[in-house]
Amino acid sequence: MTKLASLVRPKAVAVVGASPKAGKIGNTILKNVIESGYKGKIYPINPREDQIEGLKAYPAVTEISEPPDLAVIAVPAARVLEVAEDCGKAGVKNLVVITAGFKEVGKAGLELEKKLVNICRQYGMRMLGPNVVGFIDTHTPLNASFAGTFPRQGEIAFLSQSGAMLVAILDWSDAAGLGFSRVVSLGNKADLSEIDFIEEAAADPHTKVILCYIEDIVDGQRFLEAAGRAARQKPVVIYKSGTSQAGALAASSHTGALAGSDLAYDVAFRQCGVIRARSMTELFDLAVAFAKAPVPRGSRVAIVTNSGGPGIIATDNVEAKGLQMARFSKETIEELQEKLPAEAGIYNPVDVLGDAKADRYRFALEKVCADPNVDSVVVLMCPAGVTQPVETTEAILEVRKAHPDKAIFAAFMGGESLAEGAAMLAREGVPCFTFPEPAIAAISGLVYYNEMLNTPEGEAAAALPGIDRKGVKAVFYDVIKDNRLVLLGSEAAEVARCYGIPAAPVALTVSPEEAVAEAEKMGYPVVLKVASPKILHKTDVGGVKIGLQSAEEVRSGFMEIMNNVHGYLPQAVVYGIEVQKMMPRGTELIIGMTRDIQFGPLIAFGLGGVYVNLIKDVSFRLARGLTLREIEKMLQETRAYTLLRGYRGEKPRDIGALVDAIRRVAALVTDFPEITEMDINPVFAYEEGLSALDIKITLS
Ligand code: COA
Repeated sequence: MTKLASLVRPKAVAVVGASPKAGKIGNTILKNVIESGYKGKIYPINPREDQIEGLKAYPAVTEISEPPDLAVIAVPAARVLEVAEDCGKAGVKNLVVITAGFKEVGKAGLELEKKLVNICRQYGMRMLGPNVVGFIDTHTPLNASFAGTFPRQGEIAFLSQSGAMLVAILDWSDAAGLGFSRVVSLGNKADLSEIDFIEEAAADPHTKVILCYIEDIVDGQRFLEAAGRAARQKPVVIYKSGTSQAGALAASSHTGALAGSDLAYDVAFRQCGVIRARSMTELFDLAVAFAKAPVPRGSRVAIVTNSGGPGIIATDNVEAKGLQMARFSKETIEELQEKLPAEAGIYNPVDVLGDAKADRYRFALEKVCADPNVDSVVVLMCPAGVTQPVETTEAILEVRKAHPDKAIFAAFMGGESLAEGAAMLAREGVPCFTFPEPAIAAISGLVYYNEMLNTPEGEAAAALPGIDRKGVKAVFYDVIKDNRLVLLGSEAAEVARCYGIPAAPVALTVSPEEAVAEAEKMGYPVVLKVASPKILHKTDVGGVKIGLQSAEEVRSGFMEIMNNVHGYLPQAVVYGIEVQKMMPRGTELIIGMTRDIQFGPLIAFGLGGVYVNLIKDVSFRLARGLTLREIEKMLQETRAYTLLRGYRGEKPRDIGALVDAIRRVAALVTDFPEITEMDINPVFAYEEGLSALDIKITLS
């Protein structure tokens, strides 16, 4: 029994607001329930009618002797609360609230929606909506919606936050030969959301692939867990719109500016194995691919074409998508050479030439599919005078039958003359496109999914030794008491040290003598920096002195900085001068964190230094559940990694220490949600160990 079984497979359904008047939503829903072939009991609810659409009508849900599992509500917004209350009292388990006029219309609507949710909570009811088209399950079967189309049965579950998008897709799906297992309009997601329906579809034996169109995610953490579990059972493909608006990342740090507002979704989807579609077209191309084609074992693609240009386009796309052009075995090449005309291309792409009829396509396809070095095949066809589209389609279908493990895709480039063949392929479940690009994009989605499935879930990092939470709390306490949100360098270094992040020694001093004493303790050379939360660009105000070698230099450096700062910014509050040990140069890196409102802390790693925003060589991961394997992948994604492994004869850097430092930053920002942003830039990486030089921490 799944969590939403009584919603998607109810024993009885009430339609509240059922109307005898054709054209009204309450009438459409009732007719849809009846006409979908629903086997359970149907109760039309209407205060004025005895009978609607041939069924006995009831004045209220409370009048039904046995409570239905589901009530679909289509009464005006002002009546919804009382109807929901009635449903609760009657013992209804689930509501689908079609009615609009809630959160989406503003403050008053939001209040109404909150009251509706409270009623659901009070009676233990689950609710889809409000403001939805409803849902359809083709296997129950039940059409609990006012959509005009009942789709054909299929293996795709489609969840859509936009009702309009949902009805448009349903209308289009029939002509496109697409079937659905379930279609859900998510609406305002006041109670149930995409998370619940992803979980439900993952458990649904009729669903092979889960598609979502969403505009936001209600609970980032729950989403990651549920979608991550679902993605390991079946492909989850999501098109998320609204990429330019707030996923809201603050951007006062380097890391925040590098991340941008949409990156958190990218990172989150990738980390939990969800495939991100970039358009509605891609969403459904991937749906067809996952529903129809076997997932290829690897990334080696073969192309069979009757023309050169499309073959080149396809080859370019294979490479651009990170796939590989298959290298045929010696036997395949010899056989192709022997039987195909001398002008034919016998390597990949196989060009069977413009005068190819079905038999030549069949031969080439047969050989290519039998080759163990081929995982998937794209058949390209342009309509030359002698082309036999239907017979060639039959050949494709026969070869596919003989090689069910190979993913075969087609791109029939043309119109009317290829339409019959293309329709046959669609009917028989071979994904067929008009141009090569979407075919290759779909294959890359399948390959990506296969790789994800074959990657073992990284083990959670073991508890970190040497963590001093109390020490961090004490620093934060002092900062807040001082009415600040930005830590001084010495405070940030202390926080880092409490979490075992190797920070270069630094001390805050208030007099030249104190500065000298600290410098002597650390050992020369040292750096002096003005300590003032108001001065962000210290060098610009003459607030930094580097490479000081003696007590005398420290003393005069101290005085000089004080004079400079006083000259430039007489109003600035200066806490003193920080004395920092001058560290030997290492590879300059950045480790940072910015916080996303949905998914929490995002960790950044990359090439550091002053040009970090220009070079943008940075990779990101969510801090939560960050595994060692993911940290390693994160390093490998950057160009900095080439430097770390030892570039042009240089000795490799201490990658182990780097992985450890990233883990510790992730732990710190997870343990302390009050850290809104953190940049360590630069971190110097050495052959042995690291040194965090400049650490910025901002609290909320
Ligand atoms: N219990 C049962 N039936 C009730 C009722 C109650 N408490 N209160 C009213 N009704 C009946 C009415 O008598 C009417 O039946 P009738 O046609 O026999 O008179 C029926 O429910 C509908 O009420 P009505 O006042 O005619 O409303 P409507 O049909 O014009 O509009 C909605 C109702 C829900 C369709 C409308 O409020 C709405 O929200 N429309 C937008 C829906 C939408 O777009 N959703 C989002 C999609 S993305």
